[in-house]
Amino acid sequence: MLDRFGQDVRSLTRIAHVTQAVIITDKNVGPLYAKRTASSLRQAGYRAHILTIPAGEGSKTIDVASELFQALAQLGCARDTLIVSLGGGVVGDIAGFVGATYMRGVPVIHVPTTLLAMIDASVGGKTALDLPQGKNLVGAFKQPEYVCADLTVLSTLDAEQWASGLAELAKMAIITSDEFFFWLSDHASILADCDAACSAHAEILAEALTRAIRAKVDLVAKDEFDTKGVRALLNYGHTLGHALEALSGYAVLHGLAVAEGMRFSVRLACAVCGASLDMVKAQDDLLDALKIPSVPLTPTANKLLVSMHADKKATSQKIRFVLPTDIAHLGLFEVDDETLSIHLKAWVSQRRPKRTSQRRTKQIAEDAQVEEPKKTATRTRKKTATQTEEKEAAQPKTSTRRKAQGATEKKPAAKASTRSRKKPESVAQQSTEAQPQETKKRRTQRKA
Ligand code: GLY
Repeated sequence: MLDRFGQDVRSLTRIAHVTQAVIITDKNVGPLYAKRTASSLRQAGYRAHILTIPAGEGSKTIDVASELFQALAQLGCARDTLIVSLGGGVVGDIAGFVGATYMRGVPVIHVPTTLLAMIDASVGGKTALDLPQGKNLVGAFKQPEYVCADLTVLSTLDAEQWASGLAELAKMAIITSDEFFFWLSDHASILADCDAACSAHAEILAEALTRAIRAKVDLVAKDEFDTKGVRALLNYGHTLGHALEALSGYAVLHGLAVAEGMRFSVRLACAVCGASLDMVKAQDDLLDALKIPSVPLTPTANKLLVSMHADKKATSQKIRFVLPTDIAHLGLFEVDDETLSIHLKAWVSQRRPKRTSQRRTKQIAEDAQVEEPKKTATRTRKKTATQTEEKEAAQPKTSTRRKAQGATEKKPAAKASTRSRKKPESVAQQSTEAQPQETKKRRTQRKA
């Protein structure tokens, strides 16, 4: 698919005025696929340039965006320029933002190279930069002209990147329909194995992606600018997830943090909006069957609460959560600090890393507890939350009548360690790239 990318772009009549393309990629993905992408564009008659930024969330800054703007200006890019993002969610976010704003907006095409970016970041037109005060605080909506998701590039993802994408897939199934949820549960053991899913079972991977992307497109079509509380359902698991990411210095991958957030949220939902223990078990079983590893962080409940308040989704007094009452039946709830603190303390004290992430992650354990989970604990505070807003999804309420299926085997926990957030470096304009190393497993970026 990448090899015929230029031809596909050429067939887009909406951008017939484009004469040159600037591929924005990062130092992990560029050496693997930038040359191929540029050569496909050149064969289709475009001038093609490659701009490379450092890999990781640390690149999503105004400084790096400014360097990209200046590089575009130095290349003489005018409104006949197409921006092509080639990479994971970070590259898609910053390249999308640059495309949305350079010369008041030029066309953008995404070529996502992670499972997470294929399902989430490349769909729906959100672009973003981070500020020291928080993630994704600057951005614009910019719908891509086209998204090229070539599944063959996924085989080089490392295990954590793969699991991070699977967590997003699970989230999409949980918020969409019980039919998708049960389909994913049925195919979880195949999809959990990146090599099998990318080779012998590529048709199952393609179906999983098609289902997830369709589901996201449907939600975005109902609420493109995220003002009606429909698109916000995509933030299931994000409130705690963002706090974990921030407290790890963005060492924890987005999807893995969101999976933790979903595990917490469904338990909170038992108290706040009447989710059942069957729902908790069904979700736990799916995440376990997909072999989503635990995040090896055990911050205090207070640190989590402070971090949640710093997140852009927090209002002045209460923290907003997307909570499920059942599969495909979720709403927005504001939870007061007292209630939240009780549940965060319960969650922190009950966590036990089942498959601790092998990512080198900053250990911020201050009150690590490794007791067995007590799944009934979240029900003890049923009446204490303050529900101020509930906007339920359009789907009719369904029940968690069938349990998630699949493997529940556990891997030994790995040691937690440190990986710091990178400082931005200069944008590199490349005319030559390193030799592709397509068999090497890579670590790329994540997306909110
Ligand atoms: N990633 C959340 C959204 O696209 O709205």
